[in-house]
Amino acid sequence: VPTGVLQISDLLPTSMDRDNEGIHLSLVIPTYKERDNIQNVIRILSQLLDELIPKDYELIVVDDDSPDRTWEVAQFLTREYPQLRVMRRQKEKGLSSAVIRGWQVARGRVLGVIDGDLQHPPEVLTQLLSGIQQGADLAVASRHVEGGGVSSWSAVRRFLSRGAQVLGLILLPGVLGRVSDPMSGYFMVRRRAIAGAILNPVGYKILLEVIGRGQVNEITEVGYVFCERQEGESKVTWKQYIEYLHHLLRLRLSIGRSGRMNEQTGFPVGRFLRFGLVGLSGVFVDMAMLYLLSDPTTLALPLTRSKIIAGEIAILNNFFWNDAWTFADVSKKQQEWHQRLKRFLKFNLICLAGLILNVLVLNLVFNFIIPNRYIANLIAIAVATIWNFWVNLKLSWRV
Ligand code: GDD
Ligand code: MN
Repeated sequence: VPTGVLQISDLLPTSMDRDNEGIHLSLVIPTYKERDNIQNVIRILSQLLDELIPKDYELIVVDDDSPDRTWEVAQFLTREYPQLRVMRRQKEKGLSSAVIRGWQVARGRVLGVIDGDLQHPPEVLTQLLSGIQQGADLAVASRHVEGGGVSSWSAVRRFLSRGAQVLGLILLPGVLGRVSDPMSGYFMVRRRAIAGAILNPVGYKILLEVIGRGQVNEITEVGYVFCERQEGESKVTWKQYIEYLHHLLRLRLSIGRSGRMNEQTGFPVGRFLRFGLVGLSGVFVDMAMLYLLSDPTTLALPLTRSKIIAGEIAILNNFFWNDAWTFADVSKKQQEWHQRLKRFLKFNLICLAGLILNVLVLNLVFNFIIPNRYIANLIAIAVATIWNFWVNLKLSWRV
């Protein structure tokens, strides 16, 4: 198994990709410190599935070597529940990779996931299963459709959850726009929809990977109420929010490069984001150079002269990163050194024009539209950035 990426078909006999072998459902239960929940979870899920699809399912607990020895309790339960399998991971950690590892050893034609803390009501499994039965490739339990909700979340957590969703919608409309609750960790997917897909195991939200990288056509959603946690505690900290941002950007950039998403948005979002990040790095270079050149404690050059040099060095910085990263995919011919030089001169001129535009827009907006200089400046910067991006895209890199 290659590091960094996980392929669902790894570790599986190829025959398992066929629909008429193995069992119907493999339900993965990722756990970390769920000692007080695991027995109830297994008991309730087994009871339910024994009625729905007797012997045609398996439960796979994937535990990350919990210090409370959840894996040991789960292992003990296998005596009583023959459909239960337990994986104790000692080298790897993380929710998404736990789910993927579970699916890798799964034998089901349908792959599912459910939390191991009873916050996902087990009854919903019935509807998820019938959604798949009726032809969906993916059945998602959702808090945001009829019958869905959260029991008693604080205003802060609701806000963070919705904010994360809106941000994701802006960055990845083609992925997050397809379901009402893209943060759900309770769903089932047909194996064949993700067999062979390379899923990135970073972060908490595996559903984004499934929709973004799988071949998912029909999706159905089932409402559910996210219950209160009875035992143990949530593992979500600020770190998961950072990881989520990282995940979104990563998915955005990689899908953007394959060109799939661009068909839907018409605008090269990934490239624009990279261009914007490079621009931001230029601000820091400009600031640092201005300090080095003009500060009384350093070189103490006159301000205007310092600014011109600082600005040019920032432009050089930006050009370098844009050429090496934002537009790394230009043709071989365009990589010759005199082509690069030509591009650099064009980039300089266009950025200079951008600066003039920046000043013009600032004055225009400030005097006639919004009499707040900082808001006006933000608008001016946005206009200049789009100008810089678009004109350089068309004239300098010509992609
Ligand atoms: N193996 C493993 N490794 N399991 C983990 C890890 C890990 O690093 N972190 C968390 N888990 C397990 C927990 O034990 C639990 O069974 C499940 O994953 C969910 O973790 P919680 O910490 O209880 O998450 P939550 O309830 O705050 O968050 C949930 O938010 C969604 C709603 O937006 C998500 O995890 C979703 O599943 C849920 O639908
Ligand atoms: Mn939980």
